[in-house]
Amino acid sequence: MLTFLVVCFVGSVLSARIPSQRNKLDFQPYSDSEDAKLTVLQIITKYGYPCEEYQVKTPDNYILTIHRIPNGKKPTQTTKEVVYLQHGLLSSSADWIISGPGKGLAYVLADEGYDVWMGNVRGNKLSRNHTYLNPDTSDEFWDFSWHEIGYYDVPTMVDFVLERTNKESLFHIGHSQGTTTFYVMTSLRPDYNSKIKAHFSLAPIAFMNHMTSPLMHVVAFWQKPLSVLLNLIGVREFLPSNEFMAMGGNILCGDDSLTQILCTNSLFAICGFSPNEMNATLLPIMSGHTPAGSSTKQFLHYAQEINSGKFRRYDYGIVGNLQKYGSMWPPNYDLSKVTAPVYLIYSNNDWLAGKIDVERLYKSLGNSKGRFLVSEKSFNHLDYVFGIRARELVYNKLVSLMKH
Ligand SMILES: *[C@@H]1O[C@H](CO)[C@@H](O)[C@H](O)[C@H]1NC(C)=O
Ligand SMILES: *[C@@H]1O[C@H](CO)[C@@H](O)[C@H](O)[C@H]1NC(C)=O
Repeated sequence: MLTFLVVCFVGSVLSARIPSQRNKLDFQPYSDSEDAKLTVLQIITKYGYPCEEYQVKTPDNYILTIHRIPNGKKPTQTTKEVVYLQHGLLSSSADWIISGPGKGLAYVLADEGYDVWMGNVRGNKLSRNHTYLNPDTSDEFWDFSWHEIGYYDVPTMVDFVLERTNKESLFHIGHSQGTTTFYVMTSLRPDYNSKIKAHFSLAPIAFMNHMTSPLMHVVAFWQKPLSVLLNLIGVREFLPSNEFMAMGGNILCGDDSLTQILCTNSLFAICGFSPNEMNATLLPIMSGHTPAGSSTKQFLHYAQEINSGKFRRYDYGIVGNLQKYGSMWPPNYDLSKVTAPVYLIYSNNDWLAGKIDVERLYKSLGNSKGRFLVSEKSFNHLDYVFGIRARELVYNKLVSLMKH
């Protein structure tokens, strides 16, 4: 079993590097899963919402895509509050709209009168670009973890949004890795705290030694040899989404298909899922957009957290750490420097955000304002974005906290 999973992990990393397999499959989606094939911009427009798309450049020359829904279907006259949504690992801005109008968080917030912005971090298929590094051929492109995402990408996008909207501060909502990168940003660049009106962590991830995901346990167990192996073969991209995945999703996950469960993609393999909270009709659409791609270093950095029980920078080994940080161990992220108001929303059945770890995070933060346990016991990590009852169980609470 363990060996099988490791082979899958390495295999997926390797196959991700064979570009010839991409783009060759001429694939016709079923009409009811048309959204699997459309871009984020096309989907939002299709449902009658205005949508804008921007490209921004980070200080280290990655080119990122940002989406905006400036207003809901009934535009309001009052000056709008700005909310910025940050997706998780292997995901993209598509997360916030896949469930459709009235369900996806981006639509819900737009309908509530917010100016909604959605970031995409380096390495996902919407931000797989750089001014001079080629993601298909350059290992240097993939040499990043969520550290760089929190240090460069999120601040760049937050600044862009504030400049465009002429605001001093915004609401920040993160899911999963989108919470980790928030904590990296505000602990290492404390001047960003004043740009955050409030932050809401959906499935908060900082400490990880109580997480229960079997696949992540395996990655953590093999973290050292995997690091060595990946350094040797020079492969750094993990599972970008492509037409092949979209096709797999459609063939295996059509509503009438008995093999529906088999379509479970790497995202579900890592995060688990609660059958009761999942809308099976959405599976082909999800598979068209996720996994959206990331670097292997993001996984290895999380695996290090699982092993060390610390929220700290990437571990390069003693020699590498001495060179990079001037100390034998990587420095911790100082959570007491996170002085923006933070609300944590967590759940019982979350494979990745364990309750003990969330409580430790809550006590470590500089300005914890509240923590809320989702009332549904089976609510899992991905249900915050894809769950049938996400609105009822989470988003309504979010909106009332934001209005307050
Ligand atoms: C990458 O960014 C450059 C701008 O530097 C742009 O011209 C090009 O079209 C982008 N490529 C993709 C695939 O988006
Ligand atoms: C599942 O998703 C489909 C497509 O968006 C939607 O029509 C349906 O109402 C959803 N079902 C539930 C129970 O939310």
